[in-house]
Amino acid sequence: MKQFLKTTALTLGLLSSPIAFANLSINVGAINVNPDSGSSALNEIPTAGVSVDSNTQLGLTFDYALNDNWVIELVAATPFSHDIKGTGAIKGAGVGSTKHLPPSLFGQYHFGAANAKFRPFIGAGVNYTIFFDEKAGKDLKAVLETEDVKLKLDNSFGLAAQIGANYMIDDQWGIHAMASFIDIDTDAKVIANGQTALTTDVAIDPFVFMLGAKFKF
Ligand code: NI
Repeated sequence: MKQFLKTTALTLGLLSSPIAFANLSINVGAINVNPDSGSSALNEIPTAGVSVDSNTQLGLTFDYALNDNWVIELVAATPFSHDIKGTGAIKGAGVGSTKHLPPSLFGQYHFGAANAKFRPFIGAGVNYTIFFDEKAGKDLKAVLETEDVKLKLDNSFGLAAQIGANYMIDDQWGIHAMASFIDIDTDAKVIANGQTALTTDVAIDPFVFMLGAKFKF
């Protein structure tokens, strides 16, 4: 406990001092969310399922170095948007679309010397994915024979794992690359004329890739 308080006090002290900026770097680049193509069966029609396509957005990640080897990384991005397509008996049907924000927080261990140009890292963390702006597709509306169709996706909390590397070109600028696996699962519900028409558990479980520029303060 004493050690914990000491560490907390030290961390807060570092965060509030101007020197703390020396521990901060920002990575900006392309980030791709590539969902697991394995689909989920509809509970009502087991021969039919859905899958989610991949999407690339602007990624923004913040690295805070606790010491020479341990880094905390917050992964953020502009909202991803995905088409949801039918599989199996409804292969290719436009089921709908959704947007989501999947902020993740990782603890990373960086290998090699603090001043090395190239430093690979591994990380583990947690993800919270917020789905919004879900829209029912025209094929789904046609099958349900109504325009009053709503699609609802539950938010997801899950674990995440990461590997990556930083390559420093000079003291301030470098290249940041990472690949993560994120456990994202959501309950999807289709509501037609105010009644639940279809339900399914969708395992999105994506690989997330980022390639960007790193700027160290
Ligand atoms: Ni999963």
